[in-house]
Amino acid sequence: MTNYLQQPSGDRAFVPDPSKPAQLLRVCPAYKETPVLEIAQPFGGILLAKDETHRMNLGAFKALGGVYAVAQLIAMEWEKQTGEKLEPDDFASERIKAFASGLTFVCASAGNHGMAVAAGAGIFGANARIHLAREMPDAFEKRLQEKGANVVRSSQTYDQSVAEALRDVEASGNILLADGSWPGYTVPPALVMEGYTIIAEEMRREFEAKKQWPSHVYLQAGVGGLAAAITFMIRKNWAVQPEITIVEPDVAPCLMASSKAGKMVTVEGPVSNMGRLDCKSPSILAFDLLERSNVTYMTVSDEEAEQAVVKLAENSIATTPSGAAGFAGQIKSLPNDQGDGYSPLIIVSEGAL
Ligand SMILES: Cc1ncc(COP(=O)(O)O)c(C=O)c1O
Repeated sequence: MTNYLQQPSGDRAFVPDPSKPAQLLRVCPAYKETPVLEIAQPFGGILLAKDETHRMNLGAFKALGGVYAVAQLIAMEWEKQTGEKLEPDDFASERIKAFASGLTFVCASAGNHGMAVAAGAGIFGANARIHLAREMPDAFEKRLQEKGANVVRSSQTYDQSVAEALRDVEASGNILLADGSWPGYTVPPALVMEGYTIIAEEMRREFEAKKQWPSHVYLQAGVGGLAAAITFMIRKNWAVQPEITIVEPDVAPCLMASSKAGKMVTVEGPVSNMGRLDCKSPSILAFDLLERSNVTYMTVSDEEAEQAVVKLAENSIATTPSGAAGFAGQIKSLPNDQGDGYSPLIIVSEGAL
């Protein structure tokens, strides 16, 4: 079994093919496009909000990444052992499920990624072991167990649980399926991000059909996987190019700090209420891509994220500070960004817990 830990460190380009996750999702009963909602702005004009709060019955966009990456890694392992390529329909067969039952996917989770990996392992007949920080609620551990995952409470904080997951695969030889990436470890996280490209493709088709394109896009970031995947697709094939702003918690601006430093840096700071964005080190794949994609960076405070949650609730969208952080960035940018043709887009990345 490959744990993907020793890749040449120069090999870190993120070049996704959105048709691959699209093929798999065609045979996935839980897959359905999520809506772009239109919210009237107080000063006039419309805010476009891609609503990921119900994605694949898992309540967050992350489902697209973890589930797809599990399938791809099973297919890659199968091909290595048999020389045969798998088609999406093959995953339903008993022989592939029997093969997958010998594979264990390991990751750390601050919430949604672990749920997506657990769900993917459950769907395709593999095993999942999720490292959870002790600060995570028991209810979340129970939800993971209901998906069939084995949960390990190995450390105090999320960042420590990432290190524990790494130690786990070094000792067990199982497959590390992290959403973050670093020099030498990029294959599984690139698959996770490839899964997220579906979100941008759904939006592109809708905007093309309506002939209505956003002028500004605000993308919240933790390690940066979501922001980089969407940015890649926007720059690759959207007919009208928006300004793109990456929004991070002010206590975890790892991408902004890395951009300023011109290299990957780890930041320090207290805990944020934007739990899923509270990552102190960026993903190298995301950082490299964002740095060559003409984006700007900004931060929002816990209070600004909380206010954005309240405003979305007034528009019947129930989310969390992590889910509303892009919106918080949009509200904060208003005095500068607003002008003729201002048509902002945000992604509400998870539902209320
Ligand atoms: C709800 C939500 N929004 C945004 C993000 C940020 O994604 P990334 O870590 O890929 O930047 C996450 C990551 O877990 C998340 O769960």
